[in-house]
Formats: sequence, C-alpha cells, structure tokens
Amino acid sequence: MSYKVLLVGNGAREHAIAKKIVEDNGILFSYMSKENPGIADLSQKFLIGNLNDFKKLDHFKLVDYAIVGPEQPLTEGIADYLEEKLDIPTCSPRKVVSQIESSKIYARKLLDENNLPGNPKYRICSSLDDFKNAIKDFGIEVAIKPDGLTGGKGVRVYGDHFSNYDQAKDYVEILQKQQSQFIIEEKLMGKEFSLQTYTDGKTLIPMPLVKDYKRAFDGDKGANTGSMGSYSLPSHSLSYLSSADTVSALKIMKKVVEIIHKKTSFSYIGVLYGQFMKTDNGIYLVEFNARFGDPEALNVLRIQETGFNSVCLSMIDHNLKNVAFSPLATSCVYLVPEGYPTKPLENQIIEVKDSQNYDLYYASVYRRDNQILTTKSRAIAVVGTGTTLQDARESVMANIPKIKGKLFYRKDIGLF
Ligand code: AMP
Ligand code: GLY
Repeated sequence: MSYKVLLVGNGAREHAIAKKIVEDNGILFSYMSKENPGIADLSQKFLIGNLNDFKKLDHFKLVDYAIVGPEQPLTEGIADYLEEKLDIPTCSPRKVVSQIESSKIYARKLLDENNLPGNPKYRICSSLDDFKNAIKDFGIEVAIKPDGLTGGKGVRVYGDHFSNYDQAKDYVEILQKQQSQFIIEEKLMGKEFSLQTYTDGKTLIPMPLVKDYKRAFDGDKGANTGSMGSYSLPSHSLSYLSSADTVSALKIMKKVVEIIHKKTSFSYIGVLYGQFMKTDNGIYLVEFNARFGDPEALNVLRIQETGFNSVCLSMIDHNLKNVAFSPLATSCVYLVPEGYPTKPLENQIIEVKDSQNYDLYYASVYRRDNQILTTKSRAIAVVGTGTTLQDARESVMANIPKIKGKLFYRKDIGLF
C-alpha cells in the first residue's frame, strides 16, 4: 500500500523523516521555508513558504496524512488547520496539546497540579520584584527561562551563562521587554537524556534513549546551539541510567498524556519528547517537546525497523502497537558553518562527495545553480551505526572528510 504524505519542515530532522516516509512506500509532498535539497529530491511536489502561513497547505488537500517537524507551526495551530479546514489526518499534536512545549509554565504547573514528580523548585515571575524574591529564596544558582519557544537558546544557567546577580538581572530585564512571564528554577546538576515516545493518546511507546550535545565546542565548551550531535547505544538505554530511571521518566510522560486528554479533550497524537536530567536526587524534567528532537530523530529513525507510515497511521487511528528498533549504536555529528553560533559564515559553498553511500542529512543549507551553500545555521548531519558506539563513531568520522567547506564539527560526540 502506498500513501501520499505531507511533511512540514526543512531541517535535518525533516530530511530524516522524509527518508523514512519514502522508504516505507510513501509518496512525499513537502512544505518548506527554504529548499532543503535532500527533501526536495525525495518529494513528488514541494512548496516553499512561511511555515506559519497555513493557506499554502490548501495545495496539498489530497494527501492521506500529514506530519509536522518543527514546534513553531504546531504552536500556531497547524494541526488544527490541517484536520479541521482540510480534513487531513495529522500525526502531530493540536495547538492546545502542544502547549506542553510552547509554555514552560503550563508544563511545570501541569506536573504540580497533578502531583507528578519531576519538577525542580521553581517560581513563575512577571516582574523584577518576583525575580528578586525568587533569588532570595533559591540563591543565585538558578536557571532563568522565558515562558515561550526560544529554539533552545533562551535558557540561561548559573555558572554557564551568568555568574552573579547583576548579570542575571540584566537578562531578566531583557526578558521583561520581550514578554511578560518567565520562570526562575533551581539549577539541576546531573546528566541529561532525551526520551522520545510515540503516542496515540493512550499507548506510549518509548524510542531508544539519546544523549544530545548542545554546546558548540569540544569538552562541552562554548554557547548553547541547536545541538552539535548525539548518540544512542545498542541497549537503547544510556550507561549512566538504570532501568528504574527510564521507568520513572516514562511514568511521568504516560500520566501527562492522560491528563492532557482530560484537560483539552484532544488525544495526544504523535511524538512526545521529554528532556530529563538524572541527578543525585532522582529524575527531573528539564522540558517537554511536542515533536521529534533534532538531532535525536536522526538517531532513532535510522534504526527504526517498523514502517514509518504504518506507525504514523496507527497513532492517528488510536491503534498504536509495537515499534521495533535494531539493537545498534548510532552516532550523529553536525557540521556547522565556521563561526557558528555567534558569527556564522553564510553563503559558503559546500562540496559533498559520494553522498549515496553514507547517511547524510541536509539541515539549513540552500541550493543555487546546482551548488549547496551555507546559511547562518547548522549545515549537514552525518549519521553512523555499528554494533558498538565506537564503530558508529568511526563510521561517521570516516565519512565527514567527504564533505568540504568552511565548516567545523565536534570531535568528541559519544566520547563522554
Ligand atoms: P530547555 O530549553 O528547557 O531544554 O533548556 C535548554 C538547556 O538548558 C537544557 O538542555 C539544560 O541543559 C539547561 N537547563 C534547563 N533548565 C535547567 C535547570 N533547571 N538546571 C540546569 N540546567 C537547565
Ligand atoms: N535536541 C533538542 C531539541 O530538539 O529540542
């Protein structure tokens, strides 16, 4: 059986989704904000436009189902538009459901109001006085978080991004000019992990756990980025986690899906992704995302054995069953423009050789006169698999030299 599928988005995450749709006999239609060469070449038809301009989606009325990669259009209600205006079954959450990502305050309150574990001490603030009171109670070792979406770049953590009261206050003043609410929460210390799940609103199926590297440079130095790489292990767990840790995280996520249904009367359909931190005091929630992670999607989709379209359709039909993943390690490394993330060199030519013979995913690049050029954001991800993490890493490292341009990458992904 072949399905017509609409994919919204144009990063490496969406290129990975596009490959899976086509691999499972899908006919791909895509809506992108910039032409991703990998997705364009796989698509029967694609349109370029602002992803928040839903009117353009009317051109895709005849698809069998749709899936949305990035968070911004979800927050703006793209799933509501697709389902209600165009009658397209959609494997991504409705606007009210995706508040679990678009408002950090909503997510923290939802855990509290339902007596679920996972919240650090936190305070919802809307003024400088609120901030001062929070610091009086918690001390200066806190994280400062705007309430809304910031592409992973809005959080400031004591010791990483600020080191004294005045610096924290300067950031709070900037936030206050932009929006009304923010959260101050105690700084968590530990190791993070990404738990992505498929859900049809009742059943929740975990994907292999992934460790993501957000900082720009080796040794976890430099600014936060959209992420520089990630890995997963053949066990589908991570060496620093026990099975009890995974069970606690999954339990919170199952409850959240149940509660969202009660609160909003919509089922959670699609991917719910929890970013957690293992600390000496147990498992804490860092944030929820209403979509696949980028790059975490690249790790898990590379080893997903069950057909992607059948999994998506089973979520839409509230009939999600097993999803199988190969017992392999995966390693994903991003190549990014020189100067990224602070002063990225854009419009530089990238030469890609032999791309049919290894797993390459285009991210924020564009094509002009048959040449691939950089933008200000991440350029290309390379993924490798192996029976051990070392094998997966070596496969990535062997292929990276086939990509030439003014780019750099982290050499320590998967080493700690
Ligand atoms: P978020 O956008 O909430 O995922 O935050 C981005 C990154 O900031 C996370 O992946 C963590 O590394 C860090 N972070 C967020 N909240 C905290 C916290 N309470 N304590 C320590 N680090 C945090
Ligand atoms: N890997 C972080 C994110 O997708 O939000």
